Amino acid sequence: MQFEYISGQPQNVAVDTLVLFTPQISTLTDRGLKELDQAKNGALSFLLKSEEFSGNANQITGLYKPDGYKASRVLLVGLGDKKKLDYDVLRKATGTLSRNDSINKSNSIALFFDSYTDEKYYQAAVEGFLLGGFKMLEYKTKNEENQQPRIKKVVFVVSEKNQLNKMKKAVERGRIISEGQILARRLSFMPANDLPPRVLAQKAQELARANKLKCTILDKDAIVKERMGALLAVAQGSVEHPRFIIIEYNGAAAKRPPIVLVGKGVTFDAGGISIKPAADMHEMKGDMTGAAVMLTTIVCAAKLKLPLNLVTLIPSAENMPSATAYKPGDIIKTRKGLTVEIINTDAEGRLLLADALDYANNYKPEAVIDIATLTGAALYILGYAGAPIVSNNKKLADGIRQAANDSAERVWELPRWDDFREAMKSPIADLWNSGGKAAPTLTAAAFLESFIGDYNWAHIDIAYMDLEKSGQPYIPKGPTGFGVRLLVELLSNWRKL
Ligand code: BES
Ligand code: MN
Ligand code: ZN
Repeated sequence: MQFEYISGQPQNVAVDTLVLFTPQISTLTDRGLKELDQAKNGALSFLLKSEEFSGNANQITGLYKPDGYKASRVLLVGLGDKKKLDYDVLRKATGTLSRNDSINKSNSIALFFDSYTDEKYYQAAVEGFLLGGFKMLEYKTKNEENQQPRIKKVVFVVSEKNQLNKMKKAVERGRIISEGQILARRLSFMPANDLPPRVLAQKAQELARANKLKCTILDKDAIVKERMGALLAVAQGSVEHPRFIIIEYNGAAAKRPPIVLVGKGVTFDAGGISIKPAADMHEMKGDMTGAAVMLTTIVCAAKLKLPLNLVTLIPSAENMPSATAYKPGDIIKTRKGLTVEIINTDAEGRLLLADALDYANNYKPEAVIDIATLTGAALYILGYAGAPIVSNNKKLADGIRQAANDSAERVWELPRWDDFREAMKSPIADLWNSGGKAAPTLTAAAFLESFIGDYNWAHIDIAYMDLEKSGQPYIPKGPTGFGVRLLVELLSNWRKL
């Protein structure tokens, strides 16, 4: 899909479909809409009067062959109540637009921005459009041609010439971020037979090479040398060996401490010996969404040339039941040296993250952020509406909250009370890996906190946020890539802690 940027009036844009946005209206006051109404002999006034179109959020109507317009159709897209208009309203509108029949029958379209000349509106519009159109057809052998949009060119039009540069920059930014999020979705979607840790590592290497990033892969022997006993324990039930993936981006002076991004890379979570029920187990191919998010976030940061140093760390393993699998009752030794009594082999994410959080100390980081599909109980805290976060630094948590507002990937901070730490103490080892049924999301976070170093830290639990069940305007059913927009926004506005 090719993007073009022009300034001018909507009548003069030669594309198959021209798109105009409008808030809720009952009469015609906007000049552009009045002109369109005249060019169509009062058709728009008629639609408004008959209440077939009123500019409700995500409402779309088409006007064909208007007189004096170079475009064959004009689509009007509703934005709803003007008072409630924000970036996400536009993101949802273009998300809905991306699956519109007229759009998918067009080779070229134009989006006209007259009254929305704020760069974040431009960015949100592209994000909605690209994210909403995401389809995963790679595993369909029949070429489902009518499903594949034929659109080749999107023209971004603004009336004022002096807006062009600003628009172009914002659109490019939106494109980089949504392509990153889409890549995260693709990786999460991939079945475990096609994406074991070994292949995830290859993908990371290819991505790093394509973006001139340094990439180091620790194989099983190297992981043994690192004494990452927790990662090894999780992996030992599978014929697929673990990997520890390291990607580095240097966008700032070498002496500036990096921000380390840790993502859970469990390519399949069967639960191990504490095996999961069969229903929905297939969804556990997405237990590496944290890894996908942190891989694509560092790529986006590089493409956006953010003035930061970043490191992505991915501990990756497959959690399987087998004769070689780790068992409830086992006591394992983590890289940090702390011992952990295994109560439940399905609480594996915190184990491999523990070794990664400890490894992060090597970089003397300014901050470490981890993201993980860690606890099913996250669903009972915020539902599908947002992700719980925990942090030991107020400024960092505030930054994440702000980024969540701007990116519309919501989070809510939860407490780090001693109660949760206490719940993770084992009577026979330093820790155990399950704190039982009371506040499992927070006892999991407390477990992780036992392995962090003397650094600022934030933890984001995206269990269930990684998968959309019904379909939203710009989040089609399936993997969401939740976290990419949030983290790129956070890093783009990074202030020293
Ligand atoms: N990967 C799961 C968490 C999960 C569940 C993510 C459902 C997305 C949807 C994680 O490894 C897990 O199994 N957690 C256990 C922890 C428990 C055994 C302490 C859980 O949440 O049940
Ligand atoms: Mn598990
Ligand atoms: Zn898991």
